[in-house]
Amino acid sequence: MLTTLNIPMPDDWHLHLRSGEMLNKVLPYTCQHFARAIIMPNLPSPVITTADAKKYRTEILENRPDNHDFTPLMTLYMTENTDPEDVRSGFLKGEVTAVKLYPAGATTNSDAGVKDLEKIYPVLEVMEQIGMPFLVHGEVVDKDVDIFDREAVFIDTKLIPIRQRFPNLKIVFEHLTTKDGVDYVLSSHKNTTATITPHHLVINRNAMLVGGIKPHYYCLPVAKRELHRLALVQAATSGDPRFFLGTDSAPHLTTAKESACGCAGIFNVANAISVIAQVFENEHALPQLEKFLSLNGAGFYGLEVNKKQIELERSKQCLTIPKNIVLAEGEVTAFDPMMDVYWKVKG
Ligand code: NCD
Ligand code: ZN
Repeated sequence: MLTTLNIPMPDDWHLHLRSGEMLNKVLPYTCQHFARAIIMPNLPSPVITTADAKKYRTEILENRPDNHDFTPLMTLYMTENTDPEDVRSGFLKGEVTAVKLYPAGATTNSDAGVKDLEKIYPVLEVMEQIGMPFLVHGEVVDKDVDIFDREAVFIDTKLIPIRQRFPNLKIVFEHLTTKDGVDYVLSSHKNTTATITPHHLVINRNAMLVGGIKPHYYCLPVAKRELHRLALVQAATSGDPRFFLGTDSAPHLTTAKESACGCAGIFNVANAISVIAQVFENEHALPQLEKFLSLNGAGFYGLEVNKKQIELERSKQCLTIPKNIVLAEGEVTAFDPMMDVYWKVKG
């Protein structure tokens, strides 16, 4: 049995870092294990322009621990008023990497998101032209669509029309949660890819709902039935270049999650690599691990694979759940994968 594994340093293609003290407390966990991350723009006051992104990037770098050279890759939050020329120049200057679509009302801080997709077509035209990735929160928000069907309905009513209209647009279907999503990505061409989170690889909706309501397993898109989790595991462990890691680590104060109207989001970055390595071991797919963690995403984004390596080691004892993060205002609860995990990152 494999007990050590060296792979190029992973990247996280979907990460929420927040700002202020939260940023300061969560960033070291990412820097420890990841060389780069796509930084989500859904701050309470969203990152809409290239100027906003440059300011946020500076705040991130100011909070980066000294001994790390982690690179934040900035994104813009798409609105119906996004200026295509700001997007073009930000991308061409290397100041922004991608634009993120939040359907209005779909998730945390998405009020400024898009209601009418046709309004963003001029931006998508420019993005298609310059090869800039379009990152999609793939859920419809119609109140008559069941929350467990939101992703599947998004594919049929939104994604397929966008893909037809912009055949060369680079699209990342973010935090995939369904077999429908996996099948869609597999049926489309190489310009359609998807990120998968660690939590959606290990939990189904029972984690959230059986034996009492468990707010720390509530995230958006919500975890679905077991058959969907199995499809995600198969996609991630297959080595197919269209699937790569996006942790969607989304810290909220424990008090904000343990509430009558709890926030969506799971803080998982402290044990993400360990959990994923265990999933791959369980599937006898450890040789594919570096594709999912370190190669596929870089390939899609047109970036070099990281030269630095990390070493993973299988310990004899099951790892403990990471400690909660302590802030002045309260704590952030770390993800408990509810399974035995033996792999740890050395150093
Ligand atoms: C994210 C957050 O809290 O910002 N929450 C989540 O459940 N994933 C937003 C998002 O990615 O949907
Ligand atoms: Zn997210």
